[in-house]
Amino acid sequence: MRIILLGAPGVGKGTQALLLARALNVPQISTGDMLRAAVQAQTSLGLDAKSFMDSGRLVPDEIIIDLAVDRIKQPDCAHGFIFDGFPRTLAQAQALHEKDVAIDHVIEIKVSDEDIIRRLSGRRIHQPSGRIYHVDFDPPHTPGKDNHTGEDLIQREDDKEVTIRKRLHVYRDQTEPLVAYYQQALPSGGLTPQFHCISGTGDVAQIQGEILGLLGR
Ligand code: AP5
Repeated sequence: MRIILLGAPGVGKGTQALLLARALNVPQISTGDMLRAAVQAQTSLGLDAKSFMDSGRLVPDEIIIDLAVDRIKQPDCAHGFIFDGFPRTLAQAQALHEKDVAIDHVIEIKVSDEDIIRRLSGRRIHQPSGRIYHVDFDPPHTPGKDNHTGEDLIQREDDKEVTIRKRLHVYRDQTEPLVAYYQQALPSGGLTPQFHCISGTGDVAQIQGEILGLLGR
């Protein structure tokens, strides 16, 4: 089960990837989470990535490709993985193909821009675990606190409306072309993934059920 979740910021990739990882017993690989951890630890990767992330731009391909490809060499990926937020440019997708990383399913999730802005401006995160909340749609038991640990939730730097709009623009420009890329047979043979497109609007559990159905689970 090597899966790519594709979709604009805020469509619910992270929410669904966490549930899917549990259901399929394979790791969720979020390049965004990996970059945020590097920013917090102030590593050289984090220092390089921070200004791109805060302004809603993509981090350069050469940084991200090595990060993702090295991650899937880890033993916990032996039976599969869920890419959440990778690949995000044609160069990243082509690098996966050239490195013979076969993908079984690509699932595109779609939500209107208006809903995305509501979702991202109300999103809160428990950074150590990656648990995701929303002030209206999925509020924590105690406002501002993680349900499991009671620790503080944070709001991401890039979840301000002006940056959300920039991220949506970057998505249309640089990531959406991957839909056409994965809808056709990949060049020079190899496994062409199955492509699916679903609506990300509605109940989280129902969307999860739909994804599992597409995967034959
Ligand atoms: P990244 O962290 O990947 O962010 P993103 O793709 O912009 O996606 P988000 O995490 O914002 O949204 P999501 O779809 O996961 O939604 P979520 O489930 O949280 O990337 C951040 C930055 O890192 C990038 O801008 C870039 O700079 C850099 N980066 C990362 N990967 C890169 C790459 N490959 N190449 C280059 N640069 C890269 O849900 C959102 C909210 O909605 C939550 O509050 C949630 O509770 C709520 N919600 C979820 N589902 C529902 C539902 N069904 N109904 C109502 N509310 C819902």
